[in-house]
Amino acid sequence: MSFTIPEEVTSRLNRSELAVPGSNSALFEKAAASKADVIFLDLEDAVAPDDKEQARKNVIEAINDIDWGNKTLSVRINGLDTPYMYRDVIDIMEQAGERLDLIMIPKVGTASDVYALDMLCTQIEAAKGRKKPVGFEMIIETALGMQNINEIAASSKRNESLHFGVADYAASTKARTTGIGGPNPMYGVLTDIDGDIPRDFHWGDMWHYAIARMVVAARANGLRPIDGPFGDYSDPNGFKAQANRAAILGCEGKWAIHPSQIGIANEVNSPSDAEVTKANRILEAMEEAQRDGKGAVSLDGRLIDLASIRQATVLVDKAKEIAA
Ligand code: GLV
Ligand code: MG
Repeated sequence: MSFTIPEEVTSRLNRSELAVPGSNSALFEKAAASKADVIFLDLEDAVAPDDKEQARKNVIEAINDIDWGNKTLSVRINGLDTPYMYRDVIDIMEQAGERLDLIMIPKVGTASDVYALDMLCTQIEAAKGRKKPVGFEMIIETALGMQNINEIAASSKRNESLHFGVADYAASTKARTTGIGGPNPMYGVLTDIDGDIPRDFHWGDMWHYAIARMVVAARANGLRPIDGPFGDYSDPNGFKAQANRAAILGCEGKWAIHPSQIGIANEVNSPSDAEVTKANRILEAMEEAQRDGKGAVSLDGRLIDLASIRQATVLVDKAKEIAA
């Protein structure tokens, strides 16, 4: 290990994060009763400009009046380049009670964006005597945000998670796709013509680099990496495949833009019984190895060593967190 050890932020289950438009208050009670780990009430892109003010009022009322159970509750404010953001933060922080856990910052581009919001929240918390400091979720969804991701991740003690906002990221980088989160089927290569070897089209994940980079920046700063939206809610298999590949890379959750996606996100982001059983067997085998003074042994014909303990512990700890 390095002498620098990233400190993990407030631990929360974040397997599924349900997006709920702040302008549609009819959906709030249903969201509160859902199985989503985190809910974000949206004041940004799901709300039309003419509805911004009413949505803000709805959201404040909902935070104060609805029983959100043990869910983590967040509000996505408008971007720092809009005329709405300052009032979003001031009204929400002044008028919504301590039930609010997080503020989601969209299109974060630089560490200074976070610094500015930290200053504003710190002042309001002090002025209003709020006891619980609000945490930040930050959406990486522009080329600028991706360029500055390391500094953004390290920018405030309030930071809890980084999110990959694939739709805006595609727009910002001018990627060739119009779907939200789905991959362009043309993203692949055709193998060279080489003698009798048949040519093959090898498909790739056009979002691999962005997600992998976000995972590294998040984990190096003790934050949760979360994969963003998948717009085609009538394609559960597509959603599941996207959620799986993000989870395998280290993400610990995915957005749900429709209630039907919540259960799939929870399932994908929970270690399976088989994974936990295997992890426990590795831990037992390594305990025995250590008793015998060995650093590495074989289990089922495969080498396991001290790194295997760390890998297995991640899965076992996550299973315990879910069961708690
Ligand atoms: C989310 O905000 C996205 O742009 O994908
Ligand atoms: Mg966006």
